[in-house]
Amino acid sequence: MRVLMTGAAGGVATMLRPLLVGLYDEVVLSDRRAPEGLAAHERFVAADLGDPDSLAAACDGVDGIIHLGGQAYEAEWEVIHSANITGCWNLFEAARQAGVERVVFASSNHAIGFYPRRDRIGVDEPVRPDSRYGISKAFGEAVGSFYADKFGLRVLSIRIGNVGPVPLDKRRLSIWIHQEDLLSLIRIGLEHPELHNAIVYGVSQNERSWWDNRTAYRLGYAPRHRAEDHVDAALAAQAKLPPDPIGDLFQGGTFCAAEFAGDLKRTSS
Ligand SMILES: NC(=O)c1ccc[n+]([C@@H]2O[C@H](COP(=O)([O-])OP(=O)(O)OC[C@H]3O[C@@H](n4cnc5c(N)ncnc54)[C@H](O)[C@@H]3O)[C@@H](O)[C@H]2O)c1
Repeated sequence: MRVLMTGAAGGVATMLRPLLVGLYDEVVLSDRRAPEGLAAHERFVAADLGDPDSLAAACDGVDGIIHLGGQAYEAEWEVIHSANITGCWNLFEAARQAGVERVVFASSNHAIGFYPRRDRIGVDEPVRPDSRYGISKAFGEAVGSFYADKFGLRVLSIRIGNVGPVPLDKRRLSIWIHQEDLLSLIRIGLEHPELHNAIVYGVSQNERSWWDNRTAYRLGYAPRHRAEDHVDAALAAQAKLPPDPIGDLFQGGTFCAAEFAGDLKRTSS
């Protein structure tokens, strides 16, 4: 199986690349900047998500895509629009034209960030984006649904919490995912024989999770990492952070607090 990974020079891709060794025959790495230290099974194809021709070259002969590329945090609308709206559309369209069978889309918790922390939500509730960035991730989930229904691609959108070796603060005790667990979800997207289109939460086995991840479990997800194993360090780090009266109410944290000029009572009720 030949897999294309976009955003290959980025933080998440850099954590995932060593874990892909031995899993797939070839991993095509794509980004607008070159990733470091290519392994024997890796090949770099420079591609800007705004450029359909370079995306076509990256998709050539590929069976499945891990789409990590794009703007990974809040920015002005023009930046989000170019990388995550037009760029995401271009990626799915290049995949369809090249006959790629599967796309795993790196969505984000910020698509649902304005749900209060007291709520437990699944994937059937309406999106509540907390940022332009979150809107673009909800858009990507819709594009994935469309390409699955209309053109028969198999698509998994993973609403990633926060990826890394350990949860860094109190919020991350709820939303953290270890990179090995993220890889397990990505493998479901690339390999599950009955996948059509699904949205799952990219979260480890966290007691404090706000999310009902039964769709992922139904697809065979069995996370190995538990945020609670790191609780002391995470809460010690939290104690050094200033309180955030708005961000601390909502699942999206600081993304919700930024620019907030709404009615806190209505938004949080
Ligand atoms: N890091 C997390 O914990 C986290 C959480 C939720 C979702 N995500 C999502 O996962 C993905 C990877 O996140 P990351 O933390 O590695 O981000 P990152 O910023 O480190 O990497 C993103 C990569 O995309 C590339 N890129 C940006 N715009 C591009 C364009 N127009 N054309 C081609 N390449 C472009 C950048 O060069 C960069 O290497 C992103 O889609 C992000 O939204 C990450």
